[in-house]
Order: sequence, then C-alpha cells, then structure tokens
Amino acid sequence: MTVLDVQSVTKVYGEGAATVHALRGVSLRVQRGEYMAIMGSSGSGKSTLMNILGCLDIPSAGRYLLDGVDVSRLNDRQLALVRNRRIGFVFQSFNLIPRTSALANVELPLAYAGVKAAERRRRARVALDMVGLADRADHEPNQLSGGQQQRVAVARALVTEPALVLADEPTGNLDSRSTEDILGIFDDLHAAGRTILLITHEEDVAARASRLIRLFDGQIASDVQQERVLHEPV
Ligand SMILES: Nc1ncnc2c1ncn2[C@@H]1O[C@H](COP(=O)(O)OP(=O)(O)OP(=O)(O)O)[C@@H](O)[C@H]1O
Ligand SMILES: [Mg+2]
Repeated sequence: MTVLDVQSVTKVYGEGAATVHALRGVSLRVQRGEYMAIMGSSGSGKSTLMNILGCLDIPSAGRYLLDGVDVSRLNDRQLALVRNRRIGFVFQSFNLIPRTSALANVELPLAYAGVKAAERRRRARVALDMVGLADRADHEPNQLSGGQQQRVAVARALVTEPALVLADEPTGNLDSRSTEDILGIFDDLHAAGRTILLITHEEDVAARASRLIRLFDGQIASDVQQERVLHEPV
C-alpha cells in the first residue's frame, strides 16, 4: 500500500538572481512499513523534500499524495491535523521546550490533539518507557545528556502513535552510543510496521534502512533496496 506518492515535485525558493531550484522534479513512492534513508550532500534538497513530505511546506509544482489524499487540497487547519495525527517529527536539534519536564515535553502533541490530562500523562509515560527514560520523566532538558534529550524528542514524536516518522539527521549531534540507542528504537518501530524516513550524512546509519535514496542537486540520483544489516543489542 502506497503511503507517500510524490509526483514530479519541484521546489523553487526566492526569485530573480536569488532563485534556488531546491527540488527539480522528484518522483517517489513509499510503501507502508518501508524504512527509507535519504542521503545527499549539503544543499541537495533533503530537508526541503522532508518538509514537503511532512506537510510543513508545499511544492512549487507537481503533486504530493499522503495516503491517497492530495495535500494541496487541504486547508491550514486540515494540514495541522494531518501533522498532529499522522506524522511524528524528529530533528537534529532536539527542539525540546526548556525548563519543562521530559514528561510535559512528551505530552505536548497530545495536548494539541485534545487528549485529557490523565490520559496524556499515562501515554507520555509509556512513550518515555519505550525509549528507556522512564526514570528521567521529571528531568528538564538541561538536566539530560544530548542522547537522552534526543530520546525524549523521539518519545514526543511517537506519543501520538503516528503512522509516519520523519527524522532529519536525528543522530547528527550524537555520539556512537546514543546513535545506537536511537537506531535501535527505529529498528523496533520498523519491526512494528511504522513507515520511517530518515535523513543522514552517515553511511553506517543509512545502512540500517531497508531502502536508500540519494539526492543530487534536487534530483534522485539513486534508489536502492538494501539488504538489512541486523545489529545485536549492545
Ligand atoms: N527557505 C529557503 N529560502 C531560500 N533557499 C532555501 C531555503 N531553504 C533551503 N534553501 C536552499 O535550497 C537548497 C536545498 O536546501 P536543503 O535544506 O533542502 O538542503 P539539505 O540537503 O537538507 O542540506 P543539509 O545537508 O546542509 O541539511 C539549498 O541550496 C538551500 O540553500
Ligand atoms: Mg538539511
């Protein structure tokens, strides 16, 4: 079943002498349950593509269908709903809210979704437990290591149980041990049938995905299915 259907999408920023053609005709289909890595040099269009896939931005031309729905037909409120209900985002800089407990950070997407306080708390604890941070629920971001902060960010992305997880260099700021923690969580999500798209600059991170596309200058330069390298837990 096709979850993401990208049809000849282009993205142009700016105008006149400042025009940047960030995407030049990208077509891509992603099936439910795929774990796809996106590589490509700086400026090749990776984040631009992910922002469109995550309904954070719109194409200049071409079509993008999410679960068969042309997102260009949705209004801002509907787009916000799609983002909140269907998509979990993880960024390189963890984007946690300072001076706010890990638990409250994880609860936030549920608050936007209108889930009641007790239920929010319960589900946030389950998500924190999933990333191995049940014992850090009351810690604020500045009381957590970088790897732990990213795991809180992953818990926040997962708390709504999104079908689609979009991660833009989630391990870019992490050491090898914390990278392994995050990739282990993604392995579990993949095994549970979630669709995952992960941008990375690291070949060994990309090797964990079941499919790898490489962008070059706003176009897909290669698209290969990968033999999964299975990792033993450390
Ligand atoms: N808001 C914007 N306004 C103008 N140009 C932009 C904007 N966002 C991105 N660009 C340009 O579009 C191109 C693609 O940028 P994008 O952020 O998608 O690259 P990337 O592959 O994610 O790079 P990196 O690996 O450095 O994160 C770049 O040339 C960039 O300068
Ligand atoms: Mg980027």
